[in-house]
Amino acid sequence: MNTQVVLITGGLTGIGRATALAFAKEGAQLVVSGRRDEEGQNLVAEIRKKGAEADFIRADVRREEDVPGPITEQTAESYAATFDTNVLGTLLSMKHELRVMLPQNNGSIVNISSTYGHTGAPGASVYSASKHAVEGLTKSAALEAAGTGVRVNGIAPGPIETPMLNRFAKTEERKASMVSNVPLKRAGRPEEIAPAIVFVSSDKASFITGAAYLVDGGKSAR
Ligand SMILES: NC(=O)c1ccc[n+]([C@@H]2O[C@H](COP(=O)([O-])OP(=O)(O)OC[C@H]3O[C@@H](n4cnc5c(N)ncnc54)[C@H](OP(=O)(O)O)[C@@H]3O)[C@@H](O)[C@H]2O)c1
Repeated sequence: MNTQVVLITGGLTGIGRATALAFAKEGAQLVVSGRRDEEGQNLVAEIRKKGAEADFIRADVRREEDVPGPITEQTAESYAATFDTNVLGTLLSMKHELRVMLPQNNGSIVNISSTYGHTGAPGASVYSASKHAVEGLTKSAALEAAGTGVRVNGIAPGPIETPMLNRFAKTEERKASMVSNVPLKRAGRPEEIAPAIVFVSSDKASFITGAAYLVDGGKSAR
């Protein structure tokens, strides 16, 4: 019997964590990665309790914290911090994932972009630029891998109730204003992103590659 092995980078909290638990339910073997040992070990214990196999690998894909703010306050360092995580992190992850997947002619990569990968974001220009880059990398990798049995797609969430959203919004007022742009009038839950990732990863999505799925409560329909 083939057991599906799923690697989730940035998998310790928020969307990654919910996705790890969703794959565990499907009987996959999990490898979760992030920077914090304790959170990593706790998640592994939680997944194992559900009867699935899991391991934690400590990995940091960048150097510094990013700094949201207007373009006039951005620096080469704030640019590098965001691009190191979102773009270089995606590039290096895909490089090593593809080096395993291409020789076996099988695999599915799902990169996490954002609705800001499709629109500008006042006050978060560098983040928006980085997520546009993630979408470009995703499409290019999908074309490079096309026909090999390896698919590459993206999921673009709207505002999702995670630690990142609170860090990003900084104040409750700004968070409320971000959520007010969502036609469903609320932020999404990580558990509402995870099934989309599980589906796109699965063989049920065998004709889907190079796509970017918006999971955003209707935000991008406006
Ligand atoms: N929440 C939203 O509203 C929203 C909307 C659109 C898109 N997204 C995207 O969804 C993805 C997940 O975000 P989230 O909301 O789930 O955020 P989150 O709760 O903050 O989770 C981020 C995860 O990434 C890991 N991580 C952060 N920096 C890392 C680094 N340098 N190296 C390795 N791992 C690192 C964190 O673990 P450690 O701290 O232990 O490393 C954590 O597990 C991100 O790409 C984000 O841009 C989120």
